[in-house]
Amino acid sequence: MTSIVLFGPPGAGKGTQAARITDSTGLPQVSTGDMLRAAVKNGTDTGIAAKQYMDDGKLVPDSIIIDLIKERILESDAKNGVMFDGFPRTVPQAEALADITEVTHVIAIEVPDERIVERICGRYSCATCGAVYHDSFNPTKLDGVCDECGGSDMKRRADDNESTVLQRLSAYHEQTSPLADWYESKGIFHRINGDRGIDEITSDILQALS
Ligand code: AP5
Repeated sequence: MTSIVLFGPPGAGKGTQAARITDSTGLPQVSTGDMLRAAVKNGTDTGIAAKQYMDDGKLVPDSIIIDLIKERILESDAKNGVMFDGFPRTVPQAEALADITEVTHVIAIEVPDERIVERICGRYSCATCGAVYHDSFNPTKLDGVCDECGGSDMKRRADDNESTVLQRLSAYHEQTSPLADWYESKGIFHRINGDRGIDEITSDILQALS
């Protein structure tokens, strides 16, 4: 069984790479950010509890996240492994995950802070299939038309603005980056230079997984 954690700051390219690794490995992508956005959209209790934290660029409390993951991991597509995107983000989340399943690889996509704001503020995605694009770095081939599904409804995230990004970056440095030491001590931590072309990064990640 292979369980992968994609680790890195906001805008590092976790979601972009997750879509590609899913294609290559068949592992389901489990993104706590996507799960929380769906919960907010559907007005569930989890969504109501999480919304203000997300709008403020703060981490949602561990108990909410751990409950979400415990439920998700029971679904049938997760029985042969999972690719976690944006989870765990704190040591208590990592400890809870270790009680549920063995993590075999942690892929840390490293991007300098000064690149993050331009990446996040230029991001848009397809409302139909979720494919992620960027105004300058990764635009759709045809203006406004999704390369993956042909949909023409593009959206931007509510938390993709400069002030929230800076708060998200600060949460990453204070609460999430200490996890690197935690995983490094277990010998499963792979650092990938994320400040390069998308294809080169995918190729390095697949090599680290082989
Ligand atoms: P979440 O949705 O997880 O956001 P994030 O971690 O801030 O990461 P992003 O989705 O913003 O970025 P990404 O690394 O996926 O980059 P992407 O591939 O899109 O979390 C949102 C919120 O939910 C959090 O703030 C928190 O409140 C809450 N939350 C979620 N999980 C939680 C948890 N476990 N615990 C507590 N709270 C939690 O790429 C970004 C852009 O760059 C795109 O436009 C893309 O096209 C472009 N790009 C990608 N790769 C490259 C490249 N190599 N070169 C140039 N451009 C690139």
